[in-house]
Amino acid sequence: MQLRETITNRKSTRAFLDKPVESEKIQSILDLARHAPSGVNTQPWQVAVVQGETKKILEEQLEQAFRSGTKASLDYQYYPKKWEEPFKSRRKACGLKMYSTLNISREDKERQLDQWAANYRAFDAPVALFFFLNELAEQGSYLDYGMFLQSVMLAAVDQGLATCPQAALA
Ligand SMILES: Cc1cc2nc3c(=O)[nH]c(=O)nc-3n(C[C@H](O)[C@H](O)[C@H](O)COP(=O)(O)O)c2cc1C
Repeated sequence: MQLRETITNRKSTRAFLDKPVESEKIQSILDLARHAPSGVNTQPWQVAVVQGETKKILEEQLEQAFRSGTKASLDYQYYPKKWEEPFKSRRKACGLKMYSTLNISREDKERQLDQWAANYRAFDAPVALFFFLNELAEQGSYLDYGMFLQSVMLAAVDQGLATCPQAALA
């Protein structure tokens, strides 16, 4: 696959087939992505591959915690604390587009909640990758990580697989 095609074919996918992914494919994706650059070659990435029964147990606990109202405590601040333009409108448009595509109305709070809860099951993808960063890491490592993550997603496209990056699990 050509680079242009690989980049444009990557998109956030929020529904998956119930089909296991061969370990060799996961290995090959991570092995390719580790060629991503990082400041003084620190390679700050640590990845946990979760699937099968372990994923089931973990996602049941995560979804239950979410549905029972456990307040999320983020390991890092991802979104702006204060939303201003142009980001405010883009964020709104993103949510509206997603819910209208799924035919979920503004009033249908139950389906909105269900859709959000699906985040905690990694949208029922057969494999979830959890990415960790050493607590000593500074902002530079987040830059390195972004390059690594995009490489993971492009390598997945190259293997015929879809992905969805998720801050919901941060
Ligand atoms: C770091 C990061 C975190 C994200 N977190 C979530 C998430 O928790 N849930 C979700 O449904 N989408 C999440 N997204 C997907 C974005 O909504 C998506 O990338 C954006 O709307 C652009 O669409 P595209 O990825 O299909 O090009 C995240 C994207 C990134 C890069």
